[in-house]
Amino acid sequence: MKPILIPVASGKGGVGKSFFTANLAMALAALGHRTLAVDLDLGGANLHEFIGLPNRFPGIGDFLKAKGEKLSELCVPTAFDNLEFLPGDGTTPFMANISYTQKRKLIPRLRRLPADYVVLDLGGGTSFNTLDFFNLSPIGILITVPEHPAIMNMLAFLKSFLFRAIERSMGRNHGARNMIKAAMKRPMADQPPSVDQLLERISREDPEAGRTAADVCRRYRPRLVFNEGDHPDDLKLAGRIDRSLKRRLSLEADYFGFIFFDPTLRKAVRRQTPFYPHYPDTRTGRAIGRIAERIVKYWQKPIPDSAALLMDRIQKDFRAENKSRKKRAITTTP
Ligand SMILES: Nc1ncnc2c1ncn2[C@@H]1O[C@H](COP(=O)(O)OP(=O)(O)OP(=O)(O)O)[C@@H](O)[C@H]1O
Ligand SMILES: [Mg+2]
Repeated sequence: MKPILIPVASGKGGVGKSFFTANLAMALAALGHRTLAVDLDLGGANLHEFIGLPNRFPGIGDFLKAKGEKLSELCVPTAFDNLEFLPGDGTTPFMANISYTQKRKLIPRLRRLPADYVVLDLGGGTSFNTLDFFNLSPIGILITVPEHPAIMNMLAFLKSFLFRAIERSMGRNHGARNMIKAAMKRPMADQPPSVDQLLERISREDPEAGRTAADVCRRYRPRLVFNEGDHPDDLKLAGRIDRSLKRRLSLEADYFGFIFFDPTLRKAVRRQTPFYPHYPDTRTGRAIGRIAERIVKYWQKPIPDSAALLMDRIQKDFRAENKSRKKRAITTTP
């Protein structure tokens, strides 16, 4: 059976993709699912650190360089039941810029890896490789911190992703492909078209290509995770994100999780202690565990009113945490 692929991306770098990918993989494994964490940040591979593994195993870089190497044989066991790790490449220079041929060799193999869930950590930014890896599945996770600049980067990522996915879906229709490429390359002063305008333009020139392009957009439904939040009110940004997604990209998204900023995590990373298995009952650990449960239950289905449901959950967590803090403060006061 083919695995469920979960690519994890972000518009902005440094927002917690690798931390989240590693811990989500550990949480899925703890639920009893055969899980594989894959480091696809080929220019800055560091996922091993969050799983507590040394950087000394051959990985995707070696697979791409060598002939006859089997990708599945490079999977490394971890200290956790049901969890394996596929290293990226920390040693070969310029690995972030893999060629089209290398990508064609890699992508079908990733789709056949032996696991129930394959969680993939991508590099930051909008390089074609990152966009194409995000396109491994019509549903991927986008992670952002709840701040305006990071959210703008996330929307820009999604727009580049959709343009690229539409362009790729045109196959050998070079007329349509060139039109899309030209739209992507517009000079700054001349606003690039919205996704709707692009679809309209394609349909006008070539109705069949227009239908294919519209299908790509309809199929795509990102799952959003906020990281490093301070307060449940951060989630109020969801309304604005929804409106921008609809207006600019004709997309709908599901809100899949909210993770608070957690100083314990910094300490765990410094000690190279994997977070989730050691702190499953902290506010951050529980948030990650719940995202894993949501994935198992709802990965293929849209969640109506996901932002409101998540807000309700986060507010409960926040109140419970404050109550137990107050209680601890009272019992420890002499
Ligand atoms: N919820 C959180 N609370 C506290 N620290 C966090 C949280 N999430 C991530 N961090 C810390 O932020 C830093 C960046 O995280 P991480 O490396 O996962 O980001 P990234 O998006 O993968 O970065 P890059 O784009 O460079 O690959 C790490 O030191 C990590 O420990
Ligand atoms: Mg990273």
